[in-house]
Amino acid sequence: MSTSTGSALSGAALVAAVAALLAPAAAQAATPTTCRDTSPSCTIKWAAGRSGIWAGTAIDDEMPAGQLTDTLAHYNAFTTENAFKWSVVEPTQGSPNWTKGDALVAFATANRLRIRGHTLLWHRMQTPSWVKQQVTASPDRQAKLRELITAHVTQVVGRYRGRVQVWDVANEPLALFGSGWDLADGVLTPANFFYNTLGEQYLDLAFRTARTADPKAKLFLNEIVWNPAIGDAKADSLLALVKRLKQRNVPIDGVGLQMHAMLGAKEPMFSGSSTKLTAYMTALAKLGVKVEVTELDVSLPQVRSAYGSQASTRSRLLDLQAAVYRRVVEPCAKVTACTGVTVWGLRDPDSWLDTFGVTSSLAPHEPLPLDAAGARKPAYRALRDSLLKRCTRTTARRNPCSTRWPSS
Ligand code: XIL
Repeated sequence: MSTSTGSALSGAALVAAVAALLAPAAAQAATPTTCRDTSPSCTIKWAAGRSGIWAGTAIDDEMPAGQLTDTLAHYNAFTTENAFKWSVVEPTQGSPNWTKGDALVAFATANRLRIRGHTLLWHRMQTPSWVKQQVTASPDRQAKLRELITAHVTQVVGRYRGRVQVWDVANEPLALFGSGWDLADGVLTPANFFYNTLGEQYLDLAFRTARTADPKAKLFLNEIVWNPAIGDAKADSLLALVKRLKQRNVPIDGVGLQMHAMLGAKEPMFSGSSTKLTAYMTALAKLGVKVEVTELDVSLPQVRSAYGSQASTRSRLLDLQAAVYRRVVEPCAKVTACTGVTVWGLRDPDSWLDTFGVTSSLAPHEPLPLDAAGARKPAYRALRDSLLKRCTRTTARRNPCSTRWPSS
């Protein structure tokens, strides 16, 4: 991960930076009741407060100091980008490392930011190798994996009981492309080791264990859905999986839709998808779960290739990017069950896309609402203003934001 907003901090320096920010304590400025586009206080955070939709960013475990202040200025929530992944929490079995997680939780608590704890089980990446080794070596592989999942979920969720409001209990359980599960190893698609060992029951176990460890935390399944706009097989698979989980009374509270608009998004990106994405979120909501957009970023080179000649100037390109943001965020605002939108990083150069294996060749992706200097891009305004669409619904009378927003 590149570090546009300062030098990366070690765990100890991170704790010190967080402590410095905590010193003046928590008092948050009262939410202003009006907002002008050009005003510094007319932020995504402001719109989040008015609309009642959480707006977050991802904060990395090696975060530059500036990210803390950016987060406070623009968002009222964050997701732990890496700090709670199994390989970070417990790289060696029996020696958990809570330094980064503790610092981020303290930062959130002191500043009343909501945390999405990300993520307890992710077969595709960042599961320490000892997990698979131990299971494979065990005479009873299923019992061993159940034991390890139970211990892991219990210790992480239990440690932060009452302080981490939402958990991505399971990340990307389904096959990367197409429908169903990852059964065989591929380059981008390692077999779902959890599924291959325990079947779908691994999800039941993880959710039930998390519920016991913190009965009040909201438990989410987080998944990549490339483009529900066209009802692709994966979106249907996810819907069917959630239905089965609910039928088995698995305690799942919500579904996170990642929404990295980079690979596999059919062209043009999320075109006309507001209606269809709204319908997809509504279908999920009908199953009795909340929905969130959890990892939004919109790669500029991908926008360029999707729109070709329409993206003739930089300014046009940025507007097209903003339009994708709008098409993803507006459905959330329209569906009451949608409780949050999170973008995957603060400033453009912080984006994981620039350094991640398969996406790095297209760097810079510039996929975020804030540019390298921390200035607001058209995508920033698109996200902020789209959140306020919640206020134009029939609930508007109870929600004053609808009458206070001067169009920008
Ligand atoms: C990414 C992080 O941003 C990177 O820093 C890390 O190297 C790999 O993981 N889907 C997810 C996230 O659910 O956890 C991933 O985060 C991005 C894709």
